[in-house]
Amino acid sequence: MPSLFTPLQLGALELPNRIFMAPLTRARAGRQAVPNELMARYYAQRASAGLIISEATGISREGLGWPNAPGLWNDAQVEGWKGVTEAVHDAGGRIVAQLWHMGRLVHPDLGGGQPVSSSATTAPDFAHTYEGKKPYVEARSAALSDIGRIVEDYARAARNAVDAGFDGVQIHGANGYLVDQFLRDSANLRDDEFGGAIDNRIRFAREVLQAVGDTIGMDRVGIRFSPNILVQGVDDSDPIALYSELAKTLEELQVPWIELREPNKTTSSGSVPTAPVSPAMRAHYSGKIVINSDHDWTDARGRIEDGHADAVSIGRLFIANPDLVKRLALDAPLNTGDSGTFYSGGAQGYTDYPELGEQEAA
Ligand SMILES: Cc1cc2nc3c(=O)[nH]c(=O)nc-3n(C[C@H](O)[C@H](O)[C@H](O)COP(=O)(O)O)c2cc1C
Repeated sequence: MPSLFTPLQLGALELPNRIFMAPLTRARAGRQAVPNELMARYYAQRASAGLIISEATGISREGLGWPNAPGLWNDAQVEGWKGVTEAVHDAGGRIVAQLWHMGRLVHPDLGGGQPVSSSATTAPDFAHTYEGKKPYVEARSAALSDIGRIVEDYARAARNAVDAGFDGVQIHGANGYLVDQFLRDSANLRDDEFGGAIDNRIRFAREVLQAVGDTIGMDRVGIRFSPNILVQGVDDSDPIALYSELAKTLEELQVPWIELREPNKTTSSGSVPTAPVSPAMRAHYSGKIVINSDHDWTDARGRIEDGHADAVSIGRLFIANPDLVKRLALDAPLNTGDSGTFYSGGAQGYTDYPELGEQEAA
């Protein structure tokens, strides 16, 4: 049986180990959403991950509603990301871009105009804006012409990602954002070919994957889901049925890997999980399955060794431990992250977590 340290082929990507860095929004790109040298340093410090999945990255101004998060829709952003991907590659790593449209979770202060979603709904709770938290506003239901345009935005962002030196992309289909707003029936109230029956709710994800695969090659494309938890007001009445059908679509499209945020206990944000869907997906899907979320890493190691997953992605521990792979290999103590600096901007709590040698020397 493989271990966390067994190499893995993921479509076109050859990975030296199975410990991935999960996508982590860190809000250091500034208002123009352009990556910078500080971000290059942060990612390069974590290059020993089997694969780095970048922080969620806006495919368009319309789709990006997180203050200071990066984008991939213009030349300045492509140039900024080049510095990041070069630094990661120079340090021996691999990195894919997580492509993001936030749908109804974009506040008009950031995106410009009323947000767009599968249906005219309003997300619960509050949006992050440059002036602090504000209530979400009601989204407008995407017209068919919007859907076509947004699919093109995904394809353009994927082309930009490759031009910026990324090794591939991951579509963000999790956590209540736009793809998830189409997939799960608490947010998708449409009665046309993009809503209602499961096949219709899958259609948006299918079109995005097809367009992105046609643009950069499907062997460089993955997708992330959060199938068994309620996130930002989005969940489903029958997750096993939905994600089983989705697995058939992914198999048909030959998407080489998926990442599932699939906790088996109440998450750090208080969401209580339903039954895992990965066993049902596995029955229909021969690609690689990466699991994530709220596992302590010994639990994750067990799920790889017993064959339930091919790799594990780790979030918060990678924030606090740039050399996490080495620490896991040596069973060394782990630093604890400071949630106060997750989105605070600047180097503190970002590039200043010590590596093992530095700690011993200190
Ligand atoms: C600070 C922070 C930022 C996050 N940003 C993203 C993101 O950009 N995209 C995403 O899909 N998930 C994001 N997540 C979720 C993580 O990828 C991961 O699913 C979650 O932290 C659980 O994994 P962990 O227990 O290993 O931390 C974020 C989580 C945290 C704590």
